[in-house]
Amino acid sequence: MTDLVVVGSGFYGLTVAERLANETGAKVLVIDRRSHIGGNAYSAAEPRTGIEVHQYGAHLFHTSNERVWEYVNRFTAFTNYVHRVYTTHKGEVYPMPINLGTINQFFRSALGPQAARDLIKEQAAELGGKEPENLDEKGVSLIGRPLYEAFIRHYTAKQWQTDPRELSASIISRLPVRYTYDNRYFNDTHEGLPVDGYTAWLERMADHPNIEVRLDTDFFDATQPINKGAVVGQVPVVYTGPVDRYFDYAEGELSWRTLDFEQEVLDVADFQGTSVMNYPDEDVPFTRIHEFRHFHPERDYPSDATVIMREYSRFARREDEPYYPVNTAADRAGLLKYRELTEGEPHVHFGGRLGTYQYLDMHMAIGSALSAVDNKLLPMLGARGN
Ligand code: FDA
Repeated sequence: MTDLVVVGSGFYGLTVAERLANETGAKVLVIDRRSHIGGNAYSAAEPRTGIEVHQYGAHLFHTSNERVWEYVNRFTAFTNYVHRVYTTHKGEVYPMPINLGTINQFFRSALGPQAARDLIKEQAAELGGKEPENLDEKGVSLIGRPLYEAFIRHYTAKQWQTDPRELSASIISRLPVRYTYDNRYFNDTHEGLPVDGYTAWLERMADHPNIEVRLDTDFFDATQPINKGAVVGQVPVVYTGPVDRYFDYAEGELSWRTLDFEQEVLDVADFQGTSVMNYPDEDVPFTRIHEFRHFHPERDYPSDATVIMREYSRFARREDEPYYPVNTAADRAGLLKYRELTEGEPHVHFGGRLGTYQYLDMHMAIGSALSAVDNKLLPMLGARGN
């Protein structure tokens, strides 16, 4: 007898399952259409080298949310990894996000914070107070043309497969510039990587006698015993798949960007000396290269091989993995219509990044699941007498 069906074994679904199994004793069935647990945070050891590879793109854990930090530490310890990103522009490597080091290297200068601030302000005034009409103008108005064109323009064009002059200014509200030499990527209070990997962490969340995880099970496959038609209205459902798919795209498809990854094992100890290198130039087709050994310098990885992954960005088709919401005006209008439809489904709770059509970092997906448990799901299951 199942008290709750959770569709999707990502961080959102597993947080809900773990909390409700522990708090109410409910029997929770988690299904996932993939053949592994964990959603996009899943990672696995590359067979030849044993190096942990984040299969759906690099995942760095960071949070300033104390409740989330306390919660995740129940399942894993974290290393003291601190994320830093570099970028290769015209054959030269610069630190990211743009900081005093980037500025002084780029302009061959030795400016202090105030002088750098003044320079960027002067360069950003190029539009003379005119309202930016597209992303290109917005970028120039935020950080000035030289830095924008070097580090942002072509990178953004590659991400969106679109000339930034044709992209909406609203896509970016700010471009971070630091007037110090601090090149830590994240500003959060807590940061680190799970000591024994993401999958061990995710499996521990599901390790409860009241939780069953059934893989290779698509909620829309009517030949499976657990499917939408058989379950909705019979048992409460937490659905973390794409919201438009749930309603059979009745209000049209919401658009996403996806990524293609090109993984390679190289016979060298170290390929690039750091975990992530961006490539913002037009003549390089990929956006960045990840080298996974650098996420875990504390591990005993082989000294004669390394794993790299080139990342390419493009618009997603229906059969692709949806990664980042595009969020056009049409998408926002469609999402409102889907939200109305979800109100007609009182037995289904829509959550997570796909179920709500929004980009969520891991700590946000976990935080939002914890809130949904408190505010909606515990009262709902409580009302069932569990
Ligand atoms: P998630 O997508 O993980 O899980 C949803 C699950 O539902 C999937 O397993 C899917 O198979 C399943 N599903 C969908 N439809 C189904 C169906 N019909 N039937 C059954 N199952 C179905 N965050 C961060 O904090 N730091 C980082 O560095 C990164 N990096 C990053 C890189 C890239 C490329 C992406 C795309 C995302 C990140 N993230 C991140 C975000 C992180 O991946 C995100 O927070 C979590 O995946 C959210 O967890 P969810 O459970 O919401 O979705």
